[in-house]
Amino acid sequence: MNRGWTDPAVSQTDTIQQLVAREILDSRGRPTVEVEVHCHSGAWGRASVPSGASTGQFEAHERRDGDPSRHDGLGVRRAVDAVLHELAPVCRGLDPSHQEELDDRLRACDGTPHKSRLGANALLGVSLAAARAAAAAQGIPLVQHLFRLWRGIAAPESAPSATSPDSPGSGLRFEPRLGRQLLMPLPMVNMISGGLHAGRNLDLQDWLILPVGAGSYHQALDWIVLVYRRLGTVLTERGLEASLVGDEGGYGPRVADNEIPLKLIVEAIERAGLRPGDDVALGLDVASTHFFRDGTYHLAAGKGQTLSSAGMAELLESWVDRYPLISIEDGCADDDWAGWRHLTQRLATRVQLIGDDLFVTNPGRIREGIQRQCANSVLIKLNQIGTLTETLQALRLTLAAGYRPVVSARSGETEDDLLADLAVATGAGQIKIGSIVRSERLAKYNQLLRLEEQLGDRAGWLGRGLFSAPTP
Ligand code: PGA
Ligand code: ZN
Repeated sequence: MNRGWTDPAVSQTDTIQQLVAREILDSRGRPTVEVEVHCHSGAWGRASVPSGASTGQFEAHERRDGDPSRHDGLGVRRAVDAVLHELAPVCRGLDPSHQEELDDRLRACDGTPHKSRLGANALLGVSLAAARAAAAAQGIPLVQHLFRLWRGIAAPESAPSATSPDSPGSGLRFEPRLGRQLLMPLPMVNMISGGLHAGRNLDLQDWLILPVGAGSYHQALDWIVLVYRRLGTVLTERGLEASLVGDEGGYGPRVADNEIPLKLIVEAIERAGLRPGDDVALGLDVASTHFFRDGTYHLAAGKGQTLSSAGMAELLESWVDRYPLISIEDGCADDDWAGWRHLTQRLATRVQLIGDDLFVTNPGRIREGIQRQCANSVLIKLNQIGTLTETLQALRLTLAAGYRPVVSARSGETEDDLLADLAVATGAGQIKIGSIVRSERLAKYNQLLRLEEQLGDRAGWLGRGLFSAPTP
């Protein structure tokens, strides 16, 4: 299957004959869009669209019917109709392997900046199904086709340089192999859920682990499962809830404050016979936009706290001082640029600071964040921007600036496993899928196992290399 991997150009393969679209259900039992792209040769591909709960205000528009008599207004029949009646005519006759041209046509057909006329969910379904159809038409694995597409995405013209001493990305050593070769991604895995994903029992959204000391993806996955099980035991022994899980499969224990999960996870790592920090480090998705009001962060758990941006940075820094915490997502809200700048100045040399709601996978916002020297990492979510090409462009821009990308699923997912192939093909280095229970998550983890086996030495593994100390 490796033959021809480095061929730069793809000749005409096939043409799109027909699009099929339907409403299916996602992992929360909510409707989502599924699309099939059928080619004249008989080759075809299918893809379905994820959906967030803690969505950022700047994301591309997810179109819902708003008809209260069906799925409480969450139906996506109008997005499905848009695929069938508006997008299908502009795709017919196109070579599905010409992804940029296809995505340009989809965007032009929609005609709005945030894909609000037809819906980003309609566009993304077509965009991803076309990639699958193109791989099928060429008779190559999806990962190979995505690798070709990735190589064809031009570097942005005016991205700030990764080597600039002022770049916040320079605080953590930038791994030069990122984006340059096939890589098995380091998983960043949800252990405990709070916020909008778990009934708001805690303010923060995810407490995660990163198995940085593992020697391979499959060893990383073994460790994650072990820590997850040991954490279940720790929670049960303490009389905390260990059977209810959040939307992404993390435990949803009834604990009194936002720091306790850090302690519990460290204990679980030790009980698994692993070394906190050296083998398995910690991460957070603070998702702070969702408790930011009137310029202040309102934490409700425990005794409750009202913090300024500086207070928020201080709290996070105190955790970095006391726990093996190496990655913090959305430590500030999506419109708190000053807070982000302060947080970055304070912590960017010590931890990965990921912007999710801040950047929403939007090249315009990523560029702005780089210029304002905010964060040093970007969460990459396909449906935040709405086409495969724009997602790849967001990734290119991220890497060109010396920021690290983390390819991410949403809290609402389907059995579609394209994300795994995307992470490997782009050499993004890290992936965030949720926990290691529930099949919509495991579809991706298991596909990564297959890719690791199939690709062998072709796919590298960076592990700890991603988080080396800053170069002096
Ligand atoms: P979402 O959560 O899919 O509900 O937005 C994931 C995240 O915030 O990273
Ligand atoms: Zn997030």
